[in-house]
Amino acid sequence: MKKVPSALSPVIAVDRKAAKPLHKQIYDAFRSMIVGRNLSAGQQIPSTRALAMELKISRIPVLTAYSQLLAEGYFEARAGAGTFVCSSLPDQLTSSDKSSSRSVDVRSGTRVTSRRAKLLPRYERLPWLRGMGAFNLSQPAFDQFPFPTWSRIVMRHCRNLHARELHYGGPLGLEELRKAICSYLRTARAVHCDTNQVMIVAGSQQALEISARVLLDDRSAAWVEEPGYWLTRQVLTAAGCRLVPVPVDSEGLDVGFGVKKCRKARAAFVAPSHQYPLGATMSASRRLQLLDWAQSSGAWVIEDDYDSEYRYGNMPIASLQGLDNNSRVIYIGTFSKTLFPSLRLGYLVIPPDLVDRFVAVRYAMDIGPPHFFQAVLTDFMNEGHFARHIRRMRQLYAERRTALVDELQKEFGSALEVLGSEAGMHLTVILPKGFRDQEVAARAAREKLWLAPLSPAYVGETPRQGFILGFGNTPAEEMPKAVRQLRSVLCGEKNVSAKTTGHKENS
Ligand SMILES: Cc1ncc(COP(=O)(O)O)c(C=O)c1O
Repeated sequence: MKKVPSALSPVIAVDRKAAKPLHKQIYDAFRSMIVGRNLSAGQQIPSTRALAMELKISRIPVLTAYSQLLAEGYFEARAGAGTFVCSSLPDQLTSSDKSSSRSVDVRSGTRVTSRRAKLLPRYERLPWLRGMGAFNLSQPAFDQFPFPTWSRIVMRHCRNLHARELHYGGPLGLEELRKAICSYLRTARAVHCDTNQVMIVAGSQQALEISARVLLDDRSAAWVEEPGYWLTRQVLTAAGCRLVPVPVDSEGLDVGFGVKKCRKARAAFVAPSHQYPLGATMSASRRLQLLDWAQSSGAWVIEDDYDSEYRYGNMPIASLQGLDNNSRVIYIGTFSKTLFPSLRLGYLVIPPDLVDRFVAVRYAMDIGPPHFFQAVLTDFMNEGHFARHIRRMRQLYAERRTALVDELQKEFGSALEVLGSEAGMHLTVILPKGFRDQEVAARAAREKLWLAPLSPAYVGETPRQGFILGFGNTPAEEMPKAVRQLRSVLCGEKNVSAKTTGHKENS
């Protein structure tokens, strides 16, 4: 049987008619790839036989080139393993010969990119999103996830992959998973749906992106909550839309304000069950007002129902979509909070007459969702693990949330206003005047305390400074220490005394 070479063949063009001998061409090509860092120290090189076959030349020039590269220290031979780029190439070897490699940083000529791409802020992993630990946002209790069960299902699917599952799937996603989600949504969220309206997507983010592409045109006006979820704003910005910030109060989105400011908006993006980041639940009258506006002005409502599985104290709040008699609501949900965010699975519930457009747009975008984890999740749901996990987590997060609220009260009294602790895996604290939340957050991150500042959640002027504190991945017993650390970060601010934060010196 023919031996398959274990190393990739680098791109080497040899010219048999050139004056330069073949062995010199091969030597030069390897040398410049090493110096230009296209081949890295320790990387395996194809065998002389494999390269000669690849280049369709005799083995002799390849052997000559390799022996010279070995003699000069560019290559090293490892007995029984093959030939490698020398693992200890001196720096001057790779930095002295810049002329032989084409820099990847060439910037000549006009380099036009789209206006939309330029509208987006540069991606950076903000300091307060970098670590794992107390208060970090969007982190469920990773150590409580039933990994043995999940792994068992993963293994089962690995062992039983059928050829048809390796082929392209449909743009809506796996039918069995859509069925399971549909039944879950009807029961747990009072969503009106049938399987053909459910589309599996790569998290809420893709759902927002597809919705924007289907429903909005360049310069379309869209209401966004103020403050609100910054990634919704980025999707809309990238879509070339005109953002209309509509303030949020204790009853949720101020629909009256929105109507006055821009009645003709094409869409409203809302999180009515647990507004992000202030946490209000939209009141029944505002919900009806929003649906009335949508119907009378021909607008769409995009409902981001990202974490309402976790509700404490009072009864679960039904979805806005379930109240809508005119199919004006596009419903979005995610498994990022209930399972884990790297799964990148979420769903859309699409009004029946729009399914066709959503499918067309989605197909042009990424064809459809990857099969494997859809199949795993289907079994996870159908075997009852999903419902069980949510029940367990609801209890656990309720404890963590109580521990956090109690500690905040103990350490800060009324100096910190706490908002939105009735649901989800985060709450928001409003800081007394004089604090700059981003500055404090950057400083706290250096001490490994992850405080997401409130101010970036505003499109316009920021009336309040505060922090959005995640509690999903912080055990209740670690909460006192984390809150004390928060207090010490706040009290360390210049011109701010412990008194300002309401803390008693002897506590
Ligand atoms: C308001 C809001 N919507 C949606 C999500 C979830 O996004 P995804 O499903 O893309 O992970 C988050 C995550 O933190 C969020 O805060």
